[in-house]
Amino acid sequence: MSYPYQIKSFDEYKEAYQKSIEDPAAFWADIAQHFTWRKKWDTTLNWNFTEPKVEWFKGGKLNITENCLDRHIATKGNQPALLWEPNAPDEHNRTLTYSMLLEKVCQFAHVLKNNGVKKGDRVCIYMGMIPELAIAILACARIGAIHSVVFGGFSAQSISDRLQDAQAEFIVTCDGAYRGAKDIPLKNVIDDALIGNKTVKRVIVCTRTRIPVSMIKGRDVWWEEEMKLVEEAGITFIEAEEMDAEDPLFILYTSGSTGKPKGVVHTCGGYMIYTNYSFVNVFQYKEGQVHFCTADIGWITGHSYIVYGPLSAGAISLMFEGVPTWPNAGRFWDVIDKYKVNIFYTAPTAIRSLMGFGLEPLQGKNLSSLQILGTVGEPINEEAWHWYDENAGKKKCPIVDTWWQTENGGILISNLAGITPSKPSWATLPLPGLQMTLVDENGKEVFAEGDETVSGNLCIKAPWPSILRTTYGDHERCRLNYFATYPNMYFTGDGALRDKDGFYRITGRVDDVLNVSGHRIGTAEVENAINMHAGVVESAVVGYPHDIKGQGIYAYVIFNGKGINEALAKKDILQTVTRIIGAIAKPDKIQFVSGLPKTRSGKIMRRILRKIAEGEINNLGDTSTLLDPGVVEEIKNGKI
Ligand code: WT7
Repeated sequence: MSYPYQIKSFDEYKEAYQKSIEDPAAFWADIAQHFTWRKKWDTTLNWNFTEPKVEWFKGGKLNITENCLDRHIATKGNQPALLWEPNAPDEHNRTLTYSMLLEKVCQFAHVLKNNGVKKGDRVCIYMGMIPELAIAILACARIGAIHSVVFGGFSAQSISDRLQDAQAEFIVTCDGAYRGAKDIPLKNVIDDALIGNKTVKRVIVCTRTRIPVSMIKGRDVWWEEEMKLVEEAGITFIEAEEMDAEDPLFILYTSGSTGKPKGVVHTCGGYMIYTNYSFVNVFQYKEGQVHFCTADIGWITGHSYIVYGPLSAGAISLMFEGVPTWPNAGRFWDVIDKYKVNIFYTAPTAIRSLMGFGLEPLQGKNLSSLQILGTVGEPINEEAWHWYDENAGKKKCPIVDTWWQTENGGILISNLAGITPSKPSWATLPLPGLQMTLVDENGKEVFAEGDETVSGNLCIKAPWPSILRTTYGDHERCRLNYFATYPNMYFTGDGALRDKDGFYRITGRVDDVLNVSGHRIGTAEVENAINMHAGVVESAVVGYPHDIKGQGIYAYVIFNGKGINEALAKKDILQTVTRIIGAIAKPDKIQFVSGLPKTRSGKIMRRILRKIAEGEINNLGDTSTLLDPGVVEEIKNGKI
């Protein structure tokens, strides 16, 4: 498969960028014509950021799975689509060719239909990283059902909230999942999530760990048994449902500054075009290369760069069930060696954590197949960048630092591997179609004087094909969150610098959202969870710099009663957070306090708490507006 829209030089990038800004509709229509459409679209682009309303390729009819699977069968039916490496190195790996994957997707699409799933229905998918997860996603897309994948680390309560919000009637899960040394009892978690739920009609359970599970009559069925029925009937194909480009493809929940995660909605046409375009250009994908994205499919990175981007490009996508440090810290390097991986895309957190193990885990590993490296999810510090460059890339692989968000669908700012310049710890230039800008607090665009570097809040002035369309069930929330802070702009929530060459460096969130190990967590969400503990009166959560995770979670907690056993109370609080959200949101530090710094109007002054957590206790700024400046002294003295 060739990619006529693959940019081959810095000049071509500049040309494409210019064209994309002058006439976005013509630019994207040109790219979209290289995909399989049942019917061509009527209007390429319709938009305003006030409602907001964004429509790409409206009236166009397609099915994304025909683009990810069927269209590759003639030329590469017998070539691998998915390579799968299990958690344990001694278990058999699996390869699914494009033909095999299409057949499985079609068969599971029948299973979904047999179980009552119809176009537009929401299907919650809560599985580990096994090929069946990709199959379930694509099978939903095949029949026009809307998938909502929930990361396997989220708790029953989190799943329950998401099921409720999406009004999901169907769940696909596994008995359990392997992750490193851990067995996660996914089906048990689902059972807990379903207590009191009256909406879910069917749970399809795929076998993985064989831990005992209880199957509820009339509600729960086994994946394998359902598939067997379809296979025995000799069914190997299903006609893809014809979707409008603007029909929803999936919902993915992500945290914001409120206590409740938002269901980001992506649509069929624009998302497909943009994930493909960004995949082919950022990673400079060449026919036959093995692409290894280490993200979990429970996050947007896995959706876009394990499943939809690579498969729509006819690529070979490697899916890894395990973790980087089990059974030892050489696991990634072993996987790269085993599959002769060409493109390796991971998170700065993983790099920093592997740095801590020294160079020994790399010894004897043949990494010579690597051609391109990538990072995503958080800013990469220069030390980690150089370590990655020297030890993984042997200084011969371009590193792409890709900045984007769940709401964006695909990579928005990044160098194009080997094509546009890179600069350690800078995401560099926007992709074609992206009109980035920096604004001050008043929404006024800021520009540099001469060769200076400017700083501001990162905004985008026009839509790209995979911008979120809404937040599920609550369009006003979408408007308020992203489009109301600055008129006529999409606000990212990130702060950034821009240098004289127009390169961007992301400095981090400017709202109350944390980025822990590349995962987004709202401080309000963590506070809500902590406050669920019966002994907690009030809490305030802030981030602080963490050597490996990027940001750690620091919680200030007012606990009820005198003479508490602090160690025990901390353990209980951690357990509560794990139950309410999941282990990923557990605070790294908990400090018990008798009061929180508040203004006279009762607002917690997080700025002060942040400074203390960061260790800047002598530089707290103006504390004169505090109701009780005394609490600050106490908090400073008790800092952990
Ligand atoms: C936030 C989005 C979609 C990627 C996975 C995370 C931060 C993401 C970078 C980068 C600096 C980055 C931003 C962004 N972020 N990539 N290359 N450099 N920061 O997706 O959970 O939606 O979080 O991750 O703060 O807003 P997410």
